[in-house]
Amino acid sequence: NGYVVGIDLGGTETKIGIVDYNGNIVEKSIIPTLVSRGSEDVIDRIAESVRKLVHTSGVESKVLGIGVGSPGSIERESGTVIYSPNFPGWKNVPLSRRLEELTGFTTYVENDANAFAIGEWAFGTFKGTPNIVALTLGTGVGGGVISRGELITGSQGFGGELGHVIIEPDGPLCGCGSHGCLEALASATSIVRMAKEFRKRYPDSPVFRQENITARTVFDAAKTGDEMSELVVERATKALAIGIAGFVHIFNPDVIILGGGVSRAGNYLLEKVERKVRSYVMESFRGTFKIALSELVEDAGIKGAASIVYFRSK
Ligand code: BGC
Ligand code: NA
Ligand code: ZN
Repeated sequence: NGYVVGIDLGGTETKIGIVDYNGNIVEKSIIPTLVSRGSEDVIDRIAESVRKLVHTSGVESKVLGIGVGSPGSIERESGTVIYSPNFPGWKNVPLSRRLEELTGFTTYVENDANAFAIGEWAFGTFKGTPNIVALTLGTGVGGGVISRGELITGSQGFGGELGHVIIEPDGPLCGCGSHGCLEALASATSIVRMAKEFRKRYPDSPVFRQENITARTVFDAAKTGDEMSELVVERATKALAIGIAGFVHIFNPDVIILGGGVSRAGNYLLEKVERKVRSYVMESFRGTFKIALSELVEDAGIKGAASIVYFRSK
């Protein structure tokens, strides 16, 4: 039986795994993405790691292909990254072609959050659930929608950009150039940014005693009653709930699955979001959907990316 290389191209790090048909990761490596070095350099280093990983796992002759989950608008036929808000300078990057040239393996590229949704659908707790809205809460906020067992792609394949739905039109600037996108309020990056903006008003917050402030720092402090952190968490979870309520009305999903680093805030996050969503949806939708945390978390991106090789043909 064959193996697939799953690549989760992230804003901070890139995770590469050798995945078997059941979605088990047999070998994995993580490299810093270093977006600022430009696409050529990033792709070269990824290809290098793929070659090493395939070699050390001794599966060379059994690799069926590479699946990449990449942020941004992807031209799926050619595997080209057309535009990616958190990857400055990435315009029309021939990701699939370059990886094929450098590794010799057939490569498929899918939007990272779409890949995550497919990964959840194929390997997650809600395996086989026909109607899924998946959200990744990381450097950016990504969305993937599966409706009646099919990924929603739209006309150009760019559909499912749930992170750029506008929640506060006069809100903070988003990487995409708009203001108040869900991403600008609920991504890990935004949570840290909002906390830092409170530094003057709440100089005594325990958050500011940390050298390296992450979304986790803010959530942990909120859990222990830190007022500044509670304000930030309130704004982020409200934005998420407004977004999710909208997605419920549009897609009537069975489940909304939350993944990405921020989802590690766990039940604390879930309860806050759930309570708000219930009050924002029309009566008929109450009780029609679940909101759940991804249990694949760390590896969801790799598994999702791997699964697109099985679920797509060029
Ligand atoms: C991008 C999406 C991506 C998400 C998560 C957003 O900024 O627009 O395409 O899925 O970040 O990486
Ligand atoms: Na998407
Ligand atoms: Zn945006």
